[in-house]
Amino acid sequence: MADPELSYFELQAYIGTTKHMGGLETTKELIELCRISRDSYVLDVGCGVGATACYLARKIGCRVVGVDLRQSMIARAEERARREGAGDRVEFKVADAQHLPFADALFDAVLCESVATFIADKQRVVNECARVTKPGGYVGFNEEVWIKTPPPGPLVEFVRRTWDIESDVPSAEAWVKMLQEAGLKDIEVRIYEFDARRESTQVRRYHWRDMWRMFYRTLLLYIRNPAFRKYMAERRRTPQGLFDYLGYGLFVGGK
Ligand SMILES: C[S@@+](CC[C@H](N)C(=O)[O-])C[C@H]1O[C@@H](n2cnc3c(N)ncnc32)[C@H](O)[C@@H]1O
Repeated sequence: MADPELSYFELQAYIGTTKHMGGLETTKELIELCRISRDSYVLDVGCGVGATACYLARKIGCRVVGVDLRQSMIARAEERARREGAGDRVEFKVADAQHLPFADALFDAVLCESVATFIADKQRVVNECARVTKPGGYVGFNEEVWIKTPPPGPLVEFVRRTWDIESDVPSAEAWVKMLQEAGLKDIEVRIYEFDARRESTQVRRYHWRDMWRMFYRTLLLYIRNPAFRKYMAERRRTPQGLFDYLGYGLFVGGK
């Protein structure tokens, strides 16, 4: 396999892992808040390597469509669905969250876990998620927020550069305003600080064989690619106090 482009997401696709703050525990919470059941038809926007979409298909037993901007992510998600035997309950498609290729009012629930944060026109993403949701359905976001404001300039710069974020991370109030603007109602908000115990549930989204594959791919890349070693060295140190300022929130609205 050719070495990937040295960008945050292309590297993640190559290695075969994507994540959001709060790990599996937060995904379960979002599923509950969005009232997802076996009978639901669900869209996972910015599905990455497909961990949540496959979890929904396998554990809840609902039908799921996962979309991501990158073909490399969709290829990994399809591999995962085959490996996990998620069967015909899950399908994946390349699509931009800002222009979802679906009819209005198609899905019972739309999830978006740590995706809109990275996109400059966040309102457009929220509007699209609301548009494709059925009346009576739910739209649920798990997105980064500054929990203490204003964040110091070097932290803002670190977050943008390390995670290739196209614009600012919003405050909780700004996210709520975007959901209201998109016509969503009865908005529920849960704000979280970084918590090591909850973060450890990232691992539970993946099988131990996935972990081994990720480790092996990272190690190979590290050994044979000097540019990757430099990329990693520049991002190794998380600035002190980052997680006093950066947290995440669940924002769920009904249509
Ligand atoms: C932080 S990862 C989270 C992935 C997944 N939701 C998870 O929790 O594992 C963000 C994902 O959003 C995707 N993404 C970024 N911009 C996008 C866009 N405009 N449309 C669709 N997906 C996008 C990236 O390719 C990446 O897979």
